[in-house]
Amino acid sequence: MDSVTFTPNEFIELKTLVYQTCGINLHEGKLELLKSKVAKRMRLTKMNIHEYLSHLKSNEREVIEFIDTVTTNHSFFFRENESIEYIIDHFNRNPQKTEKHFKIWCAACSTGDEPYTIAVQLKSLGLSYTILATDISHSVLEVAARGIYKNDKIQNVPRPILYRFFQKGSGKYKDYVKVKKEIQEQITFKKFNLISDTMTHADFDAVLCRNVMIYFDNQTSEYVVNKLYKSLLPNSFFAIGNAESLMNMRHKFKSVKGIPSLYLK
Ligand SMILES: C[S@@+](CC[C@H](N)C(=O)[O-])C[C@H]1O[C@@H](n2cnc3c(N)ncnc32)[C@H](O)[C@@H]1O
Repeated sequence: MDSVTFTPNEFIELKTLVYQTCGINLHEGKLELLKSKVAKRMRLTKMNIHEYLSHLKSNEREVIEFIDTVTTNHSFFFRENESIEYIIDHFNRNPQKTEKHFKIWCAACSTGDEPYTIAVQLKSLGLSYTILATDISHSVLEVAARGIYKNDKIQNVPRPILYRFFQKGSGKYKDYVKVKKEIQEQITFKKFNLISDTMTHADFDAVLCRNVMIYFDNQTSEYVVNKLYKSLLPNSFFAIGNAESLMNMRHKFKSVKGIPSLYLK
């Protein structure tokens, strides 16, 4: 079974469930994608479409599994590194850097490529840091915590960093690398839904929320941006994806000149 058929009302019901749970806005063009995701869950649960839709309505665990299939998790090491480099360079120029402990939050970290990218650069400079890396999807967080990646994900990693912080696999892992323990130790991976969860800390030096708001509508993005604003210390950084923008939103961030996807509280 590769695809399924839903009535227009069933499409609206599913779309509403996805929107209310995680903020992802599935327009008409995503109908085929949604069908293939539902088909996948039907195969795994061995249910027909009617059984599956009623199961989804009454079972919170299935909602989690379904949302997990709907999210787009594409990421890779050193993706859009310009804003990260700028933040780290700023930290490194801080006169109190030897006493300071930098706190960073990657708020949609997917498989961990982004927090590890930040960690290896901070570690190379000898800065003290901790990273909180969160995502709505439990399956990507499991991959992130394992820290094992196929070689094609690390193409952009500078050689000296690669040799220092990644362990090359052998045997059946010959096409893989593993992030070294000293890097993993400073990162906490945790489930956090940008729509429904609340951050209790307000002491981050930088928050990154990159390449997730492209799936949200303007109203949801504005809500998320203002929620993340509250988690930052004054004069700290907020980074979004290069394809994203805070234009047409009410917010208090100031843009950083020359770095389009970077903002200051
Ligand atoms: C395309 S990945 C971006 C990963 C990384 N930030 C990057 O730029 O490479 C988008 C991630 O956002 C997560 N996501 C989607 N909706 C979310 C929500 N409501 N709360 C938290 N994470 C969410 C997805 O699970 C996915 O892992």
